[in-house]
Amino acid sequence: MFNWAKQQLANVAGIQEPIYGPTAIKSVAEEAATVPYTELKRDDLKWRAMDSTSVETQTFYFMSTSGQLGCAQVIYSNVVGLHVTCQFTAKVFSRDASIPHIWSSTQLSNVDFSDDKTCFYADNCAVELSEDGTTYTIKSLADEGCIVNLTVTRTTPAIHAGTTGTTLFGTDFTNPWGLMRHAFWPRCTSEGTITTPDGPIDFSGRAFYVYALQGMKPHHAASRWNFVNFQGPTYSAILMEYTTPPSYGSTTVCVGMIAKDGEIVRAGCDSTATHLKSAGDPVNDWPAPSEAKFTWSGKTKDGKELTAVLEGALGERLDRIDVMAEVPGFVKKIVQTAAGTKPYVYQYSPQVKLTLKLKLGEEEISEEGELLTEATFISE
Ligand SMILES: *[C@@H]1O[C@H](CO)[C@@H](O)[C@H](O)[C@H]1NC(C)=O
Repeated sequence: MFNWAKQQLANVAGIQEPIYGPTAIKSVAEEAATVPYTELKRDDLKWRAMDSTSVETQTFYFMSTSGQLGCAQVIYSNVVGLHVTCQFTAKVFSRDASIPHIWSSTQLSNVDFSDDKTCFYADNCAVELSEDGTTYTIKSLADEGCIVNLTVTRTTPAIHAGTTGTTLFGTDFTNPWGLMRHAFWPRCTSEGTITTPDGPIDFSGRAFYVYALQGMKPHHAASRWNFVNFQGPTYSAILMEYTTPPSYGSTTVCVGMIAKDGEIVRAGCDSTATHLKSAGDPVNDWPAPSEAKFTWSGKTKDGKELTAVLEGALGERLDRIDVMAEVPGFVKKIVQTAAGTKPYVYQYSPQVKLTLKLKLGEEEISEEGELLTEATFISE
């Protein structure tokens, strides 16, 4: 048992990497300095299903008109030496601490893709991209207690940062040993339901979609993450930031975008995420934030200077996810001591709504909106 666990760890967690320094990472921000972002074609939305160690995800976040918050995700993970596993997860957040979140996580079998690799199939589960590339349909009967039937339609172009959306890891960037890629649908409409034994929950409203490929061991790529999904009546503001472990010079890669219907107002790598105050967490000593500030900047397509700020108290956290909770306790202990890894995700959606303050040239716009933000701590 112990040897099994050690092997599992070597495969999944691995040991800490040596210090390669900041020259062993080529941030997508280098591309974004000249080409801030690129609009995507259908081809850019393919599953890669890499045959090396990797985690690939499609994640859809929902903010219904009636105030429900939810998400659905397909996770394709390949741990070389072990196996490929696929998981479908769905969550409906409870805003009342006395009522648990609805959380469903199901292992999928008979995984397959469409010939063009834009659609995902498994027994009782399908996530399909429409012919015109504007709509994903997400259907799952994999968990009878949480039946998903949702569509997400983008109202802006699909984009990634820079020319490739990809950050490379290695000492030879023509042959990198790792990569991280993200692609976004920053502003979408949604329709459909998540159905539990208590009945269907309507998710008509707004949505956001992110595709992520971590072509390496996830905790080798990032020690911290920040994520912002702000959806206002007119504007959406998205931010995704990670900081590498010291092995890659504690380098921060931050992709941000401001969008409105029909238009990417600005996207690129000029965003910042700052925790202004932390509430901490006695369970693990992570400085879980209680107040934060997020910024966006850069030039719009028509040459206007844009700055945007979202700042304020995050309120009671919605949830804390102990990522290692599902592995046996002693495995967790070894991961913590051997690899310095204790991943926790903190999720917030302030009840006191935050206001996006946007400056577009001389024009000043303030807009209240729905926010879902995550702070993730993985390693020191
Ligand atoms: C799924 O939702 C759509 C509306 O978005 C509806 O027309 C369809 O009947 C639903 N399908 C099932 C199996 O419930």
